Amino acid sequence: MKDREENSQRQAHISWENIVTSLEDGVIVVDREGMVSFFNQSAEALTDVSASQALNQHFCRLFGKNPWLITMIHKSHPPQQISTRGEGAFVTASGRRVPVNLSVSPLHDRRGRSLGSLLLVRDLTHRKELEEDLRRSDRLAALGTLAAGLAHEIKNPLGGIKGAGQLLRRSVMRDSSLLQYTDIIIREVERVNELIEQLLDLSRPARLNLVPLNVHELLNDVLLLEKQALEERNITLKKSFDPSLPAIQGDRSQLVQVFLNLVKNALEAMGNQGCLKITSRLETDFHIREPGRKKAKFISVDIEDNGSGIKEANLPHIFSPFFTTKNNGTGLGLAISYRIIREHGGLIRVESQEGKGTIFRVLLLVAEPTRDDSSVEG
Ligand SMILES: Nc1ncnc2c1ncn2[C@@H]1O[C@H](COP(=O)(O)OP(=O)(O)OP(=O)(O)O)[C@@H](O)[C@H]1O
Ligand SMILES: [Mg+2]
Repeated sequence: MKDREENSQRQAHISWENIVTSLEDGVIVVDREGMVSFFNQSAEALTDVSASQALNQHFCRLFGKNPWLITMIHKSHPPQQISTRGEGAFVTASGRRVPVNLSVSPLHDRRGRSLGSLLLVRDLTHRKELEEDLRRSDRLAALGTLAAGLAHEIKNPLGGIKGAGQLLRRSVMRDSSLLQYTDIIIREVERVNELIEQLLDLSRPARLNLVPLNVHELLNDVLLLEKQALEERNITLKKSFDPSLPAIQGDRSQLVQVFLNLVKNALEAMGNQGCLKITSRLETDFHIREPGRKKAKFISVDIEDNGSGIKEANLPHIFSPFFTTKNNGTGLGLAISYRIIREHGGLIRVESQEGKGTIFRVLLLVAEPTRDDSSVEG
């Protein structure tokens, strides 16, 4: 008896509405007249519309930017009353395009009379990003294998050309007008060699020397290396570091290379005037949900510039090896950075608007607490 009482108290305490409101998927109910009668928190976040704005609005008005969704809701109403499912881009009230998985079902009472429709909306943004990351890693791995083979083949004849160039240089020592040609041969061979080394770097699995690192020390070192370039170009630096940030797990020299590439790109995009902003924070809304991986904590570092920005058509290619829009670029900076961050179990994201600027966001794993300090974390 007492058990039953406790049970019913517990049930009264947690209502269906509490549960549905807190669901991670968007839940929307449209009544028989087509008016929105329920709109949970996730639906608000997904559509950029508050519940108070959505309730009692007709679905055709609310979803005016998404005709495909309107068609699905019509189908779930009488006379058809059929369930449909689909994936697509949902355009929010503020114009964002969110990839979603959507199911629309007819809603009935116990006697089977139509009450309207039930919409379940799942945000696929993170999943799509992880899928794209995987695809990109696969492409890079395939390209790496090809590049490694080719690079080996090229390195040998290059060595021959350089040796012959050096011999030639010695024999034309007395004729300075010829020396400039031998010097070009040697210098250019060295340049190609360096490129091939970088390409090989891209395909070799890195041996990471993982240690706990203070990311702010690392960023300050990178900024010191670029101090002169910043001053010469009249670029303002804004640092916004979260002092309570925990240590990350990383390979110091490789991460210096990543942040140096990103800072250099930002400077190159700004030319002789601009503002470089570097922000660090503990990432709260990103969790790895890949199967078999523990839920991990991340920190993020934003490298933001107000330079040229990246053309939308170029965005899908910037991490590909040899993609460059610069006269003297190799197009390897971001490809190498991407590989290094992936090998650290992290992620790189980019947001850019042509003519306005770019933000590169690097997510890195927080170092696992040792047994001694786990008690501090609680
Ligand atoms: N902060 C940025 N602002 C604008 N465009 C950028 C930015 N970062 C990268 N890009 C674009 O991405 C391309 C690829 O960058 P990546 O660093 O891989 O090569 P690169 O800078 O051209 O050459 P390298 O790094 O080898 O000198 C650049 O050529 C540029 O078009
Ligand atoms: Mg670069």
